[in-house]
Amino acid sequence: MNNHTQSNIKTGDKTEAPRKRIAIVTGASGGIGRVFVRELAKETIDEIWAVGRNSQRLSALQNEAGVKVVPVCKDLTDHAALLSFSDLLKEQAPRVLWLVNNAGIARMAPSREFSAPEITQATDLNCKAPAVLISLCIPYMEKGSYILNVSSAAAFQPVPYLNLYAAAKAFARSYSRALHAELRPCGITVTAVCPGWVDTDLLSRERNGRIVRFPGLVIPERVVAKALKDAKRGRDMSVCSLYVKCQHLTAKLLPQRLTMRLWLHGIRSYL
Ligand SMILES: NC(=O)c1ccc[n+]([C@@H]2O[C@H](COP(=O)([O-])OP(=O)(O)OC[C@H]3O[C@@H](n4cnc5c(N)ncnc54)[C@H](OP(=O)(O)O)[C@@H]3O)[C@@H](O)[C@H]2O)c1
Repeated sequence: MNNHTQSNIKTGDKTEAPRKRIAIVTGASGGIGRVFVRELAKETIDEIWAVGRNSQRLSALQNEAGVKVVPVCKDLTDHAALLSFSDLLKEQAPRVLWLVNNAGIARMAPSREFSAPEITQATDLNCKAPAVLISLCIPYMEKGSYILNVSSAAAFQPVPYLNLYAAAKAFARSYSRALHAELRPCGITVTAVCPGWVDTDLLSRERNGRIVRFPGLVIPERVVAKALKDAKRGRDMSVCSLYVKCQHLTAKLLPQRLTMRLWLHGIRSYL
């Protein structure tokens, strides 16, 4: 944990410049991440490191959200690129006030259709990257810092045809809640954000010639507003709609065999 709780570091006679207060948002070029950047730009911070692969989208976000936004173009499934955050943090020695692990990918398909590289890429992005970024950032965090890990309502139970994604999101949720308990004495809040369907490019609108319906669909702004509110209240989990609250309760009360059967019934026309 960072001992430098003051914003100035004194070395001998010299007083160095105040350390920058920053937020890091991964998946900043996508639907939910973009909204996190826009909202965090309103907080008292100096820079937002907006992470993604699509440099054009990140630059557009910078033009829109202001100079605070610093595009950081990296593929988080590339091990060297992921570890390069360590150098960036060492160079700049910022105070990391917010870390939002939001980048993620999902594909709904029978498990036999997933290749080994695809499985590796999905688990690297959805599980490994957030855990590594957290470990790199914690030394730069302080009392009052926040970590948000974007999980999903898919974390509440096993989800056939979204096996890999749901299991990865269960990892994110479990990891976050355990970390919250560990870091609470240091004043760092860790929140697992568990949205249901959100209106972003992640969702495939058409499947096997049929328009897909997404019950309880919400806009990203709603997910982000609730996530930031819940984090500030010190909550370890954020669920933004009544629909997802009911899903959460159902997953707690019903046997998983039954919730899986209900899910399979709901998606039968798309298989
Ligand atoms: N939409 C939903 O219904 C829903 C529901 C529950 C949870 N979630 C979760 O919400 C998070 C955000 O998803 P979204 O709905 O906003 O999806 P999205 O619009 O597709 O955004 C995904 C983001 O992830 C980034 N990304 C993908 N692969 C990457 C890689 N290899 N390295 C770095 N960044 C990468 C993308 O940026 P680049 O392409 O620029 O790299 C993009 O910014 C995800 O974790 C998702 O699982 C979404």
